[in-house]
Amino acid sequence: MEQERVLVEDQGAGVVLVTLNRPEKLNALDLAMVQGLHAALDALELRGLEVRAVVLTGAGDKAFVAGADIAQLKERGAVEALAGINSRLFRRVECFPAPVIAAVKGWALGGGCELALACDLRVGGPKATFGQPEADLGILPAAGATQRLPRIVGLGRAKEIVLLGERIKAQEALAVGILNRLVETTEEVVPEALKMARRVAERAPMAVRLAKVSLNAALGLDVDSGLMLESVAQAVCFESEDKRARMQDFLDKSGH
Ligand code: COA
Repeated sequence: MEQERVLVEDQGAGVVLVTLNRPEKLNALDLAMVQGLHAALDALELRGLEVRAVVLTGAGDKAFVAGADIAQLKERGAVEALAGINSRLFRRVECFPAPVIAAVKGWALGGGCELALACDLRVGGPKATFGQPEADLGILPAAGATQRLPRIVGLGRAKEIVLLGERIKAQEALAVGILNRLVETTEEVVPEALKMARRVAERAPMAVRLAKVSLNAALGLDVDSGLMLESVAQAVCFESEDKRARMQDFLDKSGH
């Protein structure tokens, strides 16, 4: 029987660890993995506010994801490109209602880099390496890198990464903002990402979700529309029982 491509493990307190599981191929993203991740996200979405944060990682210590599966890519034509097989999946990760944190132990190349960029936050270890080697293979990075990379690192740096195909090592990834946090050893990567996820999970879930929606809209909307969205999101929070309870709790603790 073929191994399960995507493993989903509850970590308690609303935190879920999702592992892309094809270590012998450095977790190269094939169609089975795309379908597996869609199915995992379907199931997690249906659990509503019970799922507070997701950590996404790759099995083994060598790779987050070493790109789309090149054997499958070679057979794809214009119809498959237009279907946006990986692009739609990564957009889905980006729009997943709860925050998704990438835990990057090793290679995050091609589609792997694009998948990490679609996550809300990225934690890496000393061997985390990012890059967009697509043009060496006759294609461009078309699952979001040309759009998300400039938004994260700026257009000039994004052009360098995409046009030169250079690999970005952990320290530099931290310096340019691809990594939010760099830990000292590979073993610490997933625990650190889970720690971040637990912190997110403690916070008001609707507030976190609506903040994510507003932040995701930030660079696509004009300022007035963005501010209006933010106010409407706040209106939902202001009317929530969670807000009343959390504020009362603060006031009680500080003796009011
Ligand atoms: N698609 C399909 N298979 C891949 C893959 C990919 N993107 N990346 C790695 N693999 C496979 C290798 O073919 C190899 O399989 P095998 O053991 O059956 O021969 C296995 O994973 C291990 O990879 P290997 O190349 O032996 O490891 P390495 O440590 O020498 O090199 C990389 C690691 C990441 C530098 C190298 O695997 C690589 O360049 N991968 C392709 C990266 C890429 O171009 N991605 C973008 C695709 S658009």
